[in-house]
Amino acid sequence: MTLLRIENLYRSFGNLVVTNNVNLAIEPGERHAIIGPNGAGKTSLVNQIGGQLAPSGGRIWLKGNDITGWPPDRVSRAGVARTFQRNNLFHNLGVLENLRLAVGARRGRSLDFFTPVRRLSLLAARAEELMRQVELRQDGTAPARNLSYGEQRQLELGIALAGEPDLLLLDEPTSGMSPAETARVIELIAALPRALTILMIEHDMNVVFSVADHITVLHYGEVVASGPAAEIRASDRVREVYLGMMH
Ligand SMILES: Nc1ncnc2c1ncn2[C@@H]1O[C@H](COP(=O)(O)OP(=O)(O)OP(=O)(O)O)[C@@H](O)[C@H]1O
Ligand SMILES: [Mg+2]
Repeated sequence: MTLLRIENLYRSFGNLVVTNNVNLAIEPGERHAIIGPNGAGKTSLVNQIGGQLAPSGGRIWLKGNDITGWPPDRVSRAGVARTFQRNNLFHNLGVLENLRLAVGARRGRSLDFFTPVRRLSLLAARAEELMRQVELRQDGTAPARNLSYGEQRQLELGIALAGEPDLLLLDEPTSGMSPAETARVIELIAALPRALTILMIEHDMNVVFSVADHITVLHYGEVVASGPAAEIRASDRVREVYLGMMH
C-alpha cells in the first residue's frame, strides 16, 4: 500500500499560493527528496503533512487513512515524526535525558505494565540505543546546548526516531553543517532501517543524490518534476528551474 498519498493539495497565504494542486505518492521504504528554490513551498508542504499547517484544499492519506487537517500530535501518533529547519531540543537537559523524554512520550502507556524501576531501565536502554544510532559518541550527560550544531541536529534526529515512526520528515537535515558533519548525516540516514520511509527537504545536491531514490522538484508551490533520482538528474526542465541555479 502507498505510504503517503497527497491529492490536489492546495494552500495559500492571502494571494500567495504556496502549495498549488500538489499530487504525490510515496511508497514504503522510499527515500524521497523535495528540492526547489528558496520560497518554493517545501516547508509549507511538509508542515501540511505533519499537521503544523492546515491545507486550504486537497487530501493527505497516510497508510490509507485520511489525515488531512489532523493536529500534529495526532499525526505523530499515526506514525509520522519530523525534524525542523530550526532545532527543537530541551537545551538545558542532557543528551540522554532528551532522548529518554522522547521515548517516554511515545511509549508512556505501553510501559504502564512494568514497575517504575523496570520502566526507567527500559527507557534508559532505548535512549542509549538511539544515541548510538545517531552516532553521538559521548556519555550522554552533556546538556544539549553544549553540543556542536551538527550534534544538535543528530540529537534531534534521535528524538524523531524515538517515536518509531513509519514516516520521517526531515527539513534540511544538513543545513548549516560543515562538510564533515554533512558526511556523517548522510551515513546516518543511509543506515536507517529500510522499513522507515523518509521524506526530506534538502538543498545540498550531494546529499540528495547520495540519499534519495526519488526526487520531487517544487517551484512556486507546483510540482515541476517527480520521479526516480536518475531521471530527475537527467531532466532538462529540472536543470533549468533548479540545478542551473546551483554553482
Ligand atoms: N505563515 C506564513 N504567512 C505568510 N507567508 C508565508 C508563511 N509561511 C510561509 N510563507 C511564504 O510562503 C512561501 C513558501 O515558504 P516555505 O517556507 O514553504 O518555502 P521553502 O521552499 O521551505 O523555502 P526555504 O528553502 O527558504 O526554506 C514563501 O514565500 C514564504 O515567505
Ligand atoms: Mg523551508
